[in-house]
Amino acid sequence: MERSRVLLDCDPGIDDALAILLACASPEIDLIGVTTVGGNALVEHETRNALAVLELAGATHVPVAQGCARGLIKDLTPAADTHGPSGLGYAELPAPRTQPLAQHAVDFLIATLLAAPGEITLVATGPLTNVALAVRREPRIVHAVQRCIIMGGAFRHEGNMPLRGEYNVWCDPHAARIVFHSGLPITLVPLDVTYRCLFREADMQRIAAQANARSPIVRFIADATRFYIAYHKSAQNIEGCAINDALAMALVFTPDLVTTEALYVDVETGDGPAHAATCADFWRLTGRPPNMRVALDVDAERFMRLFVARMIALADA
Ligand code: BDR
Ligand code: CA
Repeated sequence: MERSRVLLDCDPGIDDALAILLACASPEIDLIGVTTVGGNALVEHETRNALAVLELAGATHVPVAQGCARGLIKDLTPAADTHGPSGLGYAELPAPRTQPLAQHAVDFLIATLLAAPGEITLVATGPLTNVALAVRREPRIVHAVQRCIIMGGAFRHEGNMPLRGEYNVWCDPHAARIVFHSGLPITLVPLDVTYRCLFREADMQRIAAQANARSPIVRFIADATRFYIAYHKSAQNIEGCAINDALAMALVFTPDLVTTEALYVDVETGDGPAHAATCADFWRLTGRPPNMRVALDVDAERFMRLFVARMIALADA
C-alpha cells in the first residue's frame, strides 16, 4: 500500500490529540512530523502534549517542532474551558521522554516540504499562524504541497466563537486570510461537517468493551473526552463532542467521507460583529475563481465507525 506522507500542524487540544492517534492508527498514513502553534493551550503545553500523545501511540520517532506562541496580530486566547488548562481535559500523561526539535516549526515545515515536492499532505488543525508565516517566508512551498487539509471555518453553521467565528480562524484571522489566498491546494473542513461527527459516551463504551481494557490509550481517550463532552453539554447543549480535527485527518485516506464544493472563500478581519467569519461566494457573485474546496456534507456515521475501529485497533496493537 502506498502511504500518504503527512505533516500535521496542530494545537493539541483534545481533538488534535485524537487526530494524532488516528494518524498513528492508520496504516495508510506515514506521519512524518508534527508542529505546534499556540491555540487551545500555551504552545509549550501543546508541544509537551504532542510528544506525550505520540509516545502513548508508540510513535516517538515522529519529530515535533514548536511554532508560534500567538497570532500574527492577535494575542493568544487559549480554550481552557473547552480543552482544560493543560489542553487534554482530564487526561494525565507521563512527562514525555523525547524532546522537540531545536528548529522552529516554520523552518521545519519549509525544509520538509521543499525536500519532497509534490509528495506531502499538510494537515492543519490549529490557528494558521505557522502556515501563513511559512508561505510568506518561502512562497515555493505553495507548489511543493501535494494537498492541504485545513480544519477551520463555519458557513451554514453558527460558529463556536462570537458571533460567527470558528475557533482556529478566529484565533488568527489574518493568518487564515494569507493562507486562503496563497494558492495552496486547500480542502477546508468547517464546523458544518465536523459538528455532525459527535463522539458520544456510547462510542467510548464500545471502545472500552472491545479494546484491551488496560490499555493506556483507552484510559486517555476516556479521560480526555469526558471533559470535552461535558463542555459541549454545558456550553452548547450537545450530546457528545465534535472531533473536528480527527475528521480532517481521516480525509487524508478517505476523502469520500465528505462532499466538497469548489468555492471562493474570504475571511473577515475587521473588528465588527462578523469578526473572523468565513464567507463563501456560493452564488458566484464576485466572479472570483474558487480558492479551495469546502466540505459541506459528511457521512458522519461512516466516519464515527472508522474512528472507533481505529482506536480499538491502536489500543490492541
Ligand atoms: C477547532 O478549535 C479547536 O478548539 C479544536 O481543536 C478544533 O481544531 C474547532 O473549532
Ligand atoms: Ca485544533
